[in-house]
Amino acid sequence: MPIRGSVPFVFGVAIAACFATLAVAGEATVTSPDGAIAVTVNDDGGRAQYSVSFNGETVVGRSRLGLLFKDQHGIERDLEIASSDTANVDVTWEQPWGERRIVRDHHNELAVEFTATDGPARRMTVRFRVFDDGIGFRYEFPKQRGYKDLEITDELTEFAIGERATAWWIPSGEFNRYEYIYNESTAGEVQDAHTPITFRTEDGVHLSIHEAALADYSGMSLQRLRPGNFKAKLSPHADGVLVKTTAPFKTPWRTIQISPDAKGLLNSDLILNLNEPNKLGDVSWVEAGKYVGIWWAMHIRERTWGRDGIHGATTEETKRYIDFAAEHGFIGVLVEGWNIGWDGDWFNNGELFRFAETYPDFDIEELGEYAQSKGVRLIGHHETSGNISNYENQLADALDLYESVGVRAVKTGYVADAGNIERIDGSGIKRYEWHDGQVMVDHHLRVVTEAAKRKIAINAHEPVKDTGLRRTYPNWIAREGARGQEFNAWGSPPNPPSHTAILPFTRMLSGPMDFTPGIFDLTPNENPPVREDMQRSDPSNRPQTTLAKQLALYVVLYSPIQMAADLPENYEERMDAFQFIKDVPTDWEESIALDGAVGEFVTFARKERGGEDWYLGALTNEEPRTLEVPLEFLDAGKTYMAEFYRDGENAHWDTNPYDIKIYKREVTSAETLTLPLGASGGAAIRFTLAE
Ligand code: NOJ
Ligand code: CA
Repeated sequence: MPIRGSVPFVFGVAIAACFATLAVAGEATVTSPDGAIAVTVNDDGGRAQYSVSFNGETVVGRSRLGLLFKDQHGIERDLEIASSDTANVDVTWEQPWGERRIVRDHHNELAVEFTATDGPARRMTVRFRVFDDGIGFRYEFPKQRGYKDLEITDELTEFAIGERATAWWIPSGEFNRYEYIYNESTAGEVQDAHTPITFRTEDGVHLSIHEAALADYSGMSLQRLRPGNFKAKLSPHADGVLVKTTAPFKTPWRTIQISPDAKGLLNSDLILNLNEPNKLGDVSWVEAGKYVGIWWAMHIRERTWGRDGIHGATTEETKRYIDFAAEHGFIGVLVEGWNIGWDGDWFNNGELFRFAETYPDFDIEELGEYAQSKGVRLIGHHETSGNISNYENQLADALDLYESVGVRAVKTGYVADAGNIERIDGSGIKRYEWHDGQVMVDHHLRVVTEAAKRKIAINAHEPVKDTGLRRTYPNWIAREGARGQEFNAWGSPPNPPSHTAILPFTRMLSGPMDFTPGIFDLTPNENPPVREDMQRSDPSNRPQTTLAKQLALYVVLYSPIQMAADLPENYEERMDAFQFIKDVPTDWEESIALDGAVGEFVTFARKERGGEDWYLGALTNEEPRTLEVPLEFLDAGKTYMAEFYRDGENAHWDTNPYDIKIYKREVTSAETLTLPLGASGGAAIRFTLAE
C-alpha cells in the first residue's frame, strides 16, 4: 500500500510566555507546557550544569555539561551564563507511515549561552526543549575565532539518576553490539550501558535516557562515573578521536523521557519531535507491509546461505515463496544468500561479497518479473559481514541492480565475529571501527540517501541504534538493534520470556524494530548450529512463547514492515491462527499503550490507517496473569465484531504452547475484557465494525 508524503500542515506560533526565566544571575529555568517538568541550568563554580525535577521532586540531580577538544580550550570551566532565549512551540505534523498519523510537538524552549570568563574567548549554547513527556538538550557550537576543524576528545554531559532507581539495560562496548539480554538491577549496579536505558524511581516515575537525531557525530552510551551517576561516552574512531567536525556544529539531542508510569514512555513522541522534518520530499514509494522470506530456513539450518550445503536462494525455492506471498497478501519476499560471497566462512570474509553478481542458480531478472506479475516484489539483502569499504565500492551498482528488478526495500547486515567494522582509509590501511561510531553513523546515512535516489527503503541489521532519523529520511524503514527472533533458533540462551516484555520499554522507544515475529513451530530446534564461533548450540532453542504471544508481537512491537518469519509449510498447518497475521496492518492511524509494567506485561491498541479496524496485542513474561482491558478506545455507540486469538486456559510456553482459543463475539466500548494470559503468553484481537 503506497503512503502519502509527509507534510507538516499546521504551523505553530512562537508566543512570549512566562514558562522560562533567568530568575537569579547565573541560573535559568524552563518548565514543560503542563508545568510538571522543570529544568534548571546554572553556572555555579564556573561550570555549566543542569538538573531536572518532575512534580517538584528531583529526577536528575545536578549534572555537568561541556565539551573538550584536542587542540583548543574546552568548554569546561570558567564559564558563565551570558544570555538566554525562550520560545514556545505547539504544532502538529503528519507522518508518512508510523505509529500514528498526526504527531503533536508541544514544548517550551530555553537556549542558554555560556561564555568563558578566563582564557581565550569561547562560547557555546545549550538548547533545551521541555515537553510534557520529557526533555531534550543539545550543544550548539557557533563559528568562532580559533575553532574551525575540531576533534572532540570528550563530551562532559552527565546524568545523575541516583543509586536506588530500578534500571533495565544492556552493556555497551561489547562485541555483539546491542544484541544482549536485558539486565534488571538497581541504577547503582548499572555498568557502562547502551541507550535507551530505562529507570523507575522509588516513587514510580519512569525515565528513559537516549538521544535523537544522531548524524555527523558519534553514538552516545553511558559510562558509570559513580553508582547511579553516568556520563556520556562517545564511541571513538579507530584513531581514538571521538568526533571529527567543523564549527559551526550541533550535537544530537540528549533525551530524557519522563512519565508518571510505564505506559507513558510508550505513548511519547519526544524522539521524533526532536528530529528534522522529511528531507526526501515525496516518499509515497515507501511501502509499509508484511513480508516472508528465505531466512528462517537458514537459521534453523534446513538451508544454507552459501552453496556448501543446501542452497536456499534458488530460483525454484524463491518462486515457492513468491507464490505463497501472492496467495496470502504479502508485499514482498526477502531472499538471503543469492549473491556471490556466501560460500565458506562468510562471517569472516566480508571482502568476498559481490553485491551485483548472483549465484548461477538464482535468476534475479526472471524472479523480479515473476514476483511483480503476481503483485509481489523481491526484497533485497546486502550482508557486508562488517566490511563497509567493500560494500561502499559496489553500492551504486548494487542498488541499480535491485532497482532494475523492482526491489523497493533492502535489508542490510553488518555481522562480524569480533564486532568490528572494517574500513580501508585513504592511505590503504585497514581500520577497525565501532558499529556506533561516527564512521558508521555516516555510512548508514550514505546508504539510506543513495537508496532513496532509487526509491529503495533500508532495513539495517546490526545497525547503529535508531534515534528517530526516520522522520528526516522516511525510507529508513526499520532496523534490528536488539536481540531478535533469530536468537530463538541458535542463541545461547534463546530470548527469555521477559524479553519482549522489556523491549517495548527500552529498544522500541528508539523506533521500529525488524524483530521478525510469527514463528509457529514452537518445538526445539533439532538442528542447532555447529559453528563454534556463531553461538553455542542449545537444545532449548525455540521461541519461549505461546502461539498467541507470537501473534501479539505484531501489535506490540511496532514496525512498518513485519515479517511472517516461519516457513510456509508451518503456516499451512495452522491457517486458523495464520489468519491474524494476514489481517494485521503495519501502518497505523493511532496507537495507544493501554497498560504495562517493564519486564512484566504490556497491552497496546492500534487503529489501522485508512480504515476503522482496531487491533489489540497483549503479552506477559513467564508469569501467567489475567488482564482487565477496558475497550474505551473503540468508538462509543458502535458495535464491533472482536476476533480473539488468545491463550487457552492451559497455555504455557514450555508445556503447552499451542493451547490457543480462536473465536468471535460482539463487543462495545462500554465493555471491559478479561484476558487470561498463560506463562509467556499473549492475546491478539481484531475489532471490525459489526454489520
Ligand atoms: C544477521 C541478521 O540479523 C539476520 O537476519 C541475517 O539472516 C544474518 N545476519 C545473515 O545476513
Ligand atoms: Ca542480528
